[in-house]
Amino acid sequence: MAKTTRLIGSQRQAVRNLAQVRNPGLSRPSRPFGISRTGILISEGLRPALQQTHLILDPSRHSPAIQYSPFTSSPCCSDGGTSKGSHPPKWQAPVEESLNQRPVLVVGAGNIGRRVALVWASHGRPVTIYDISPDALRSATEYITDNLGGYCTDRGSHPGHVCTTTELRTATTTSGHPEHNAAGAVTAQEYTRAPWLAIECLPESLPLKTAVLALLERSLPSDCILASNSSSLTTAEMAAEGPLNHPHRLLNTHYFIPPRNRMVELMSSGATHPAIFSFLAGQMRRVGFAPVIVPSGIQSRGFVFNRIWAACKRETLAVLAEGVARPGDVDALFRDFFHAEKGPCERMDEVGLDTVARVEQHDLERRPELASEAALAWLRKNYIEVGTLGEKSGDGLFTAEERDRLRERHHLDRYKDVEETSGA
Ligand SMILES: NC(=O)c1ccc[n+]([C@@H]2O[C@H](COP(=O)([O-])OP(=O)(O)OC[C@H]3O[C@@H](n4cnc5c(N)ncnc54)[C@H](O)[C@@H]3O)[C@@H](O)[C@H]2O)c1
Repeated sequence: MAKTTRLIGSQRQAVRNLAQVRNPGLSRPSRPFGISRTGILISEGLRPALQQTHLILDPSRHSPAIQYSPFTSSPCCSDGGTSKGSHPPKWQAPVEESLNQRPVLVVGAGNIGRRVALVWASHGRPVTIYDISPDALRSATEYITDNLGGYCTDRGSHPGHVCTTTELRTATTTSGHPEHNAAGAVTAQEYTRAPWLAIECLPESLPLKTAVLALLERSLPSDCILASNSSSLTTAEMAAEGPLNHPHRLLNTHYFIPPRNRMVELMSSGATHPAIFSFLAGQMRRVGFAPVIVPSGIQSRGFVFNRIWAACKRETLAVLAEGVARPGDVDALFRDFFHAEKGPCERMDEVGLDTVARVEQHDLERRPELASEAALAWLRKNYIEVGTLGEKSGDGLFTAEERDRLRERHHLDRYKDVEETSGA
């Protein structure tokens, strides 16, 4: 795991200067937003798009012919997942030299968005983070300021320019920190610096993700790759929702918990342009990610690892809900058996119990064999409804104090391993 460094005073300012973290959006008044039925923040600007999502469900608008694979319950594309008919829509890879100017856009500055942003920024790449919540952007800025310098030092790289904004227009049409001319207008050159990759890291809601991706698709240049970081929703499902016109630019890129976890799973929307996989995997490797590509033509709900992790989570939650064992015992057994650093309870606290519950809900609806209704009800009643969400809120399946003790133990165990190895 990459060492995280907490910086204070002048050190923090130095890294801030180094990383050039700026927040043009924070000085502006935030957009008014409301809470949707699903408890998800929706900006005023998105309301029409969300309504449209529910209204436009004309299957003739969907580019790929969606079918179900005999091996999974997920839709797959009849043409091998590469194109619509015999003429795949054109996609031209962004010019390599432009990638030092054109940012990676991360949409959603929450638990995972800020971490994905950190790794992309760690090799001199510019990154823009867009979120409707100024608080989320403030906390993401703090996280990146505290960690980017140390992470780059560990990897021998230098940090890129990170901007945050609450303005979708700034996020999609320029480098995120628009260059102005003497008259105060955004320069023409600035409009050639739009993002080449947009990664949505929004709450786990199909209509929300689809509506935002449709807005991004319309606002971003035609070579910009659109990626979803959903843990349980496939981009084929998003394409089938309706408002997306260019599913050939869309794919799943499922990150784990960077920067510690570097693996990323890539899976087609059923229509993703084949050249996107090699281009994006190459760029990912350059900044230190390790991509795994689900073969073209295969659709797998949960991609690769989450199908395995889903079974582990379901049984862990069921064991806890039935009172069979406590989180400490479950994790101790797991750590001992797999020689793992952490057990499933500590991992779920890290992910966020609200995110775990949303993913469980999706599994319950789409793959009932991968979820347990009783365990989900137990998780909601005892944790989500009382605001005990794991690391993000303090206490979770473990209290914050218990987690600190576990961290200390992991550290001691690692130290012991080194001693045993060096003495052998
Ligand atoms: N947490 C994890 O470990 C993890 C790992 C892999 C994938 N994921 C996936 O990543 C996604 C995000 O998960 P998370 O845990 O970071 O969620 P989160 O709730 O921590 O963050 C979501 C962010 O989206 C912002 N947001 C909400 N509506 C928005 C809108 N309309 N426009 C812009 N921003 C908006 C929120 O303000 C919040 O900052 C989910 O799909 C999840 O399945 C999570």
